[in-house]
Amino acid sequence: MAPTGTASTALPAEAQALEKYFVLDKARLNEIVGGFRREFEDGLKNFGRDTAMIPSYCLNVPNGTEVGTFLALDLGGTNLRVCEVKLTGNHDFSVKQQKYKVSEALKHGDAKDLFDYIAESVDAFMTEVGTENGEDEAVHLGFTFSFPVEQTALDKGKLLTWTKGFACKNAIGHDVVKLLQDSLDAKHIKVKCSALVNDTVGTLLSRSYQSGPALIGAIFGTGTNGAYIDKTETIEKLGKEAIAESVKGGPDAGEYMVINTEWGAIDNGRHVLPVSPFDNKLDRESINPRKQAFEKMVSGMYLGEIVRNMLLYLIDFSVLFDGHSSEAMNTHYGLDTALVSEIEAAKSDDQVVNVLTKELGITEEFIKPADVQIVKWACRMVTMRAASLSACALAAVVLHTGHAQSKGGDETVDIGMDGSVAEFLPFFEERMRAALRLILGDEGEKRISMGLAKDGSGVGAALCALQAKKAEDANVHPVSKKMDALVP
Ligand code: BGC
Repeated sequence: MAPTGTASTALPAEAQALEKYFVLDKARLNEIVGGFRREFEDGLKNFGRDTAMIPSYCLNVPNGTEVGTFLALDLGGTNLRVCEVKLTGNHDFSVKQQKYKVSEALKHGDAKDLFDYIAESVDAFMTEVGTENGEDEAVHLGFTFSFPVEQTALDKGKLLTWTKGFACKNAIGHDVVKLLQDSLDAKHIKVKCSALVNDTVGTLLSRSYQSGPALIGAIFGTGTNGAYIDKTETIEKLGKEAIAESVKGGPDAGEYMVINTEWGAIDNGRHVLPVSPFDNKLDRESINPRKQAFEKMVSGMYLGEIVRNMLLYLIDFSVLFDGHSSEAMNTHYGLDTALVSEIEAAKSDDQVVNVLTKELGITEEFIKPADVQIVKWACRMVTMRAASLSACALAAVVLHTGHAQSKGGDETVDIGMDGSVAEFLPFFEERMRAALRLILGDEGEKRISMGLAKDGSGVGAALCALQAKKAEDANVHPVSKKMDALVP
């Protein structure tokens, strides 16, 4: 049973007063979902919105019979991953992979250096691990690039903004496939980047390949975002002509398209989110202030920092640790979200004390039993809110696509998830489900199935590269060149 978040009289008044920012009742959840739906609809109608609702040009989802071997690149979290993915056609796959560290200098330097490094890593992988492709033909590569990119084709798209601690120069507004291909070509590496994929799109494809058609692919990790399947005609900003072109485009074309919502940027204007002073402080001190408002309340990069800000506030009122802090507690991002998970998973208060002394450097004599309860409460507040808000994003998609009500049968709505928060944060799914029950009702929540999609970034990139290869072999262009002209 997940611990719940009701006010406790044992808490100091300074802490109790903070619960209003974190405990969300049914009315508040519905208000948030309403705001999210409005942003989805606005993003589908207009370019240039924060919630970018990006057409992925991925026009169908796999059914598990797909076969082929592709290279996949995955950039967007802590590491760069190069993999060779073999789709074996029976909902199964195998992966050979290597991880390469992306230094802080590369994250903040010139984009050319980053893309040269990526190309070198692909070269190193092909030399050290090898690929199954023949000597002469260029190897097809799917590039999972987990940042907001306004795509104009399966293999084309301009970076809108960096997120998650990346801030390379000369990248925003540039086509990231071209940046990569230029670096590969300059080094004479025989690889063709044929598909650009967001990790959420990859997760949706991978989940569908492995366990049947899914509606949503969601990442709750370092960052957060979701992709879902919508009718192409709802992407009004593309205009009727372009929509018609994309529908009749390639061998996989149809009336549906996967849309990358970029929900991490929902409510940057702060109209509906329960923004606390700790969120404002985190945002002000971040490298991307006023951006990724939702992501900063939900994702692994930030949850520890919100908890740290809350605990410091209570230390400053001398109602925690007798007013004593520590070097780690005083350091920006000094409390990692992994520690929040450890505290939430602790079976005894001694384990919490252990984290506080060993990992956070708090002197043991300043930790009273009541302090342990305050720390556990703060972690619970922040992680419960993250789970409830995550449920709001999922529910907004379910409602937007008209899947909230049963169509008469016992159909389920499937959601594939990936990321460290989804995988390691205790009680995350349970708490999301509790919020989904409040928003969609018991029946609505029961119809939702969710599960981790194994290796969405690698398998999804391979599946997209396969779509691109099929289109190339059939000599069709799945989407019109006119699309380029449409994107500002
Ligand atoms: C990016 C998304 C990505 C998500 C999860 C966000 O910061 O904007 O494109 O899907 O992180 O990795």
